[in-house]
Amino acid sequence: MSVADAWTQLDSDGAKAQGRSISGLFLSEADRLGRLSFSAAGLGLDLSKQPWSLADFDHAVGLARDAGIEAARARLFAGDIVNTSEGRAAQHMALRAAAGGRNQVQGRDVSPEIDAGRERMRTFAEGVRSGRIRGADGRNIKAVLHIGIGGSDLGPRLVWEALRPVEPGIDLRFVANVDPSELAFALAGLEPASTLVVVVSKTFTTQETLANAQSARAWLRDSLGPAADLHLIAVTAAPDRALAFGTPQEQVFAFWDWVGGRYSLWSAVGLSCAIALGFEAFEHLLAGAAAMDAHFQSAPLDRNLPVVLALAHIFNRNGMQRPARAVIPYAQRLRLFPAFLQQLEMESNGKRVSALGISLIRGSATTVFGDAGTNGQHAFFQALHQGTDVVPVDFVAVAHPREGDGVAHQKLLANVIAQAEALMIGRTEGAVRQELEARGASEESLNVLAPQRTFPGNRPSSFLLMDRLTPESLGALIALFEHKVFVEGVIWGLNSFDQWGVELGKTLAAVVLPELTGAVSNPHDPSTAALIRQLRS
Ligand code: F6P
Repeated sequence: MSVADAWTQLDSDGAKAQGRSISGLFLSEADRLGRLSFSAAGLGLDLSKQPWSLADFDHAVGLARDAGIEAARARLFAGDIVNTSEGRAAQHMALRAAAGGRNQVQGRDVSPEIDAGRERMRTFAEGVRSGRIRGADGRNIKAVLHIGIGGSDLGPRLVWEALRPVEPGIDLRFVANVDPSELAFALAGLEPASTLVVVVSKTFTTQETLANAQSARAWLRDSLGPAADLHLIAVTAAPDRALAFGTPQEQVFAFWDWVGGRYSLWSAVGLSCAIALGFEAFEHLLAGAAAMDAHFQSAPLDRNLPVVLALAHIFNRNGMQRPARAVIPYAQRLRLFPAFLQQLEMESNGKRVSALGISLIRGSATTVFGDAGTNGQHAFFQALHQGTDVVPVDFVAVAHPREGDGVAHQKLLANVIAQAEALMIGRTEGAVRQELEARGASEESLNVLAPQRTFPGNRPSSFLLMDRLTPESLGALIALFEHKVFVEGVIWGLNSFDQWGVELGKTLAAVVLPELTGAVSNPHDPSTAALIRQLRS
């Protein structure tokens, strides 16, 4: 089938699904649960509460095939140029491949330099942890301040929150925002003599990161003098700029321009986590992601987790015109996962033109939002259950807790299971009326209350389950969504690896800044000019 025909089929399947009951599909499709349950790399995925029939699912797999997923995937893993607007490969998979491989970037074997970089990270991380590498006055390092933003922040921050010991031996703190409040809170209680400052920036030009790096270096220097630079580490794909900033050469950890910022966790960008969690944990994280890479590369499309998850999202987004999606991890340790996905999905696929510069005729990235469950239940779940818009949900649950009270964890699990069920089955007006009648409600109040207490149901969700939250399962989870985003990008025909949309705001901020701080005046619309006048110092 041509891609255009496969899209027409998806549109028509989506239109038919609008008026169909998901619960009803379990009655009419004997093996629905079996065919729509998947597993790989320690993750289970249930897509049976999605609105598609098994025939729709087969058609959607056909769309993926017709869109050329297999060839695109081969180009991705071969290290060919897939980021066409910047002329780069996107070989983040090579960063997590087992040592001694032969991973290519544009025909060049990059494995030796990756392996060497990883060994350098190991030596450094273990040196800090063991006390072999110490601060300027000989004190042990007790804290790491990680400075970076976007892809240089969200992945490490998520990993730390997900895996950190309850009482860590090394206190890892993060600063992303140029808002000085974040740095002030991050520095509170830290001692320069026992703190490493790790500045992470792929380009080493990002305004927020450089401003925070300068402030943190001043904080080090105020107390340690010229020896302060011993506490300054840089992680970047632009080592020259890090050196020009004053980072000692042996404290610069480089990575490569073929590693996209939001895919960079697996490189030296993960150094702070490797120090604070231990290098072994970092290696397990890489291994989990590599297991998902192997699955993505080899599993047939209709059993392939990144592919089928992308298709479920596309079925809702395009077939059923649902532009938003909620991601709810029922694990406090994964509360940053929605924020991580916002960058991964919306920066990668929030595009309105194709990789050939042609306007897309279908919607691309969904608006992703979410929070940890059960907290979200007491905030935005009202709208998920009874709002005018249907918002599909991705639930993430962990079977066994990492710490704490097993009984409380059972309550958490009961809630996530119940929420997925409630969204699908709803509660009819008839059932609500019956209950109110039994309680003696008047006919008048029945007419007013029953509709308000009715749940339409038929609201889709997917359910991702891991046995335990470990470095491996976390690595697999992140890699699953990375590849899902890639699959969507191929099907939508866009380049998932650039982000031109973040440039204009940065450029205009550079124009506005001197207007706030000096006597400069540039032409603006009346609203913008008024704000500048108001906020000029
Ligand atoms: O937000 C735009 C962006 O370019 C992201 O893609 C990137 O992850 C982030 O800024 C930080 O960039 P850098 O690592 O170069 O400081």
